[in-house]
Amino acid sequence: MSNRPLNVGLIGGGGGAFIVHPHQKAIHFDGTRRVTCAALYPDPDKALQMAADWPYPIKGYRSYDEMIAAEAKKPLGERIDYALIVTPNHLHFDPAMKCIQAGISSDLEKPVTVSLDQATQLVHAVKAKKIPFGVAHTYLGHWSSLFSRFIVRSGLLGEVRWVDAYYIQGWLAQRTEDQGVQQAEWRVDPKRAGLSNCGGDIGTHALMQLRFVTGLEVTELMGHLERFVAGRQLDDHFTVHVKLNNGGRALVRASQIAIGHKNDLGIEVNGTKGTLVWRQEEPEQVTIMLPGQPDRVYWRSAVAANDGFLGDVPEWLLKEPTIPSGHPEAFHDAFARLHRYFEKDVRAYNDGKPFECDGSKYATIEDGWMGIAFVTAAVESNQKENAWVKMKTLA
Ligand SMILES: NC(=O)c1ccc[n+]([C@@H]2O[C@H](COP(=O)([O-])OP(=O)(O)OC[C@H]3O[C@@H](n4cnc5c(N)ncnc54)[C@H](O)[C@@H]3O)[C@@H](O)[C@H]2O)c1
Repeated sequence: MSNRPLNVGLIGGGGGAFIVHPHQKAIHFDGTRRVTCAALYPDPDKALQMAADWPYPIKGYRSYDEMIAAEAKKPLGERIDYALIVTPNHLHFDPAMKCIQAGISSDLEKPVTVSLDQATQLVHAVKAKKIPFGVAHTYLGHWSSLFSRFIVRSGLLGEVRWVDAYYIQGWLAQRTEDQGVQQAEWRVDPKRAGLSNCGGDIGTHALMQLRFVTGLEVTELMGHLERFVAGRQLDDHFTVHVKLNNGGRALVRASQIAIGHKNDLGIEVNGTKGTLVWRQEEPEQVTIMLPGQPDRVYWRSAVAANDGFLGDVPEWLLKEPTIPSGHPEAFHDAFARLHRYFEKDVRAYNDGKPFECDGSKYATIEDGWMGIAFVTAAVESNQKENAWVKMKTLA
């Protein structure tokens, strides 16, 4: 097995872009991956100029079509090992499908597409090509998300009765889209954001956290999509009541008008034996509450198995933290963990070996599909005066 760094190509990321930067730092985090080329911008000349101005040397392409075609022709070792797609939502499907068809693994931003039909096509294409494909649900990359998943899925809290999964922000409480903020401009535009702004943008993160941690699926939902800021076509507040496939219930909610809230993603799981509380703004800790006992606060890298609540804890989970507790891990570490696990699958794929891509470490295209199916059903429910709507399942 070669230990050369994997080559990564960026699709999107020029001209004041946001999420490319945490990603590109995470790509370089371990020294085993590096950005080698990019199609950074819709205007071809500007795309080349932005690549020339990139903080370290990369090859610039005039468009992602040119990049995918040129890279696919190169031999393994010279070409990109995976593409990172960080364009606005309406420009996810086309480059993702082209990468898959060219045999290039991809890490795609959420929400994966602007329609369920497109998401279904991507699922089928990934399956047919048998290629690693990740979806960048950042917060799964926190050690505390993996630990929460272990606790809930191993039954330590008993049967799950109720889940409150939320992502609350305040940055669109005013008409931010009129203030020259490019990230706000496209998010409130149905042509570029899709069926839902708030639900697609951050409701999908809350849903993903629920599904990842509990292993439960949504069977039916009742959606309320609100537009609190005048003149908007899409929701800026998203509240969904959910029935889960174990008979439990949940609330999946998101808001962009809750002034003071920044990136307040969290989950509370109430089981028959206890409660788990986690917030991404304090991502180093998981709180467990048991009846008649003081609360237990578990810190990353300071967990011991068989402590009276935890039984055996998988060795890989205990060894997973990268730095001792008290040296805080945060957003960039979460991104790095996702890229690290994705790298493992891409290396296996390059070597012609089986790879995992099973949703246990990072989100898959099937998870991305669930996000779009959820938002689509919520929009339908809202249009039907908040009727209960069945969640579609993947055929
Ligand atoms: N996982 C997360 O935590 C997270 C956080 C923020 C954003 N996102 C997602 O990431 C994506 C990008 O969001 P953002 O906030 O960074 O947006 P942004 O507006 O900051 O960046 C979008 C980038 O795409 C580029 N682009 C547009 N059309 C292009 C084309 N045809 N060819 C090449 N590049 C093109 C733009 O120039 C820009 O560089 C969205 O889908 C968003 O939902 C995810």
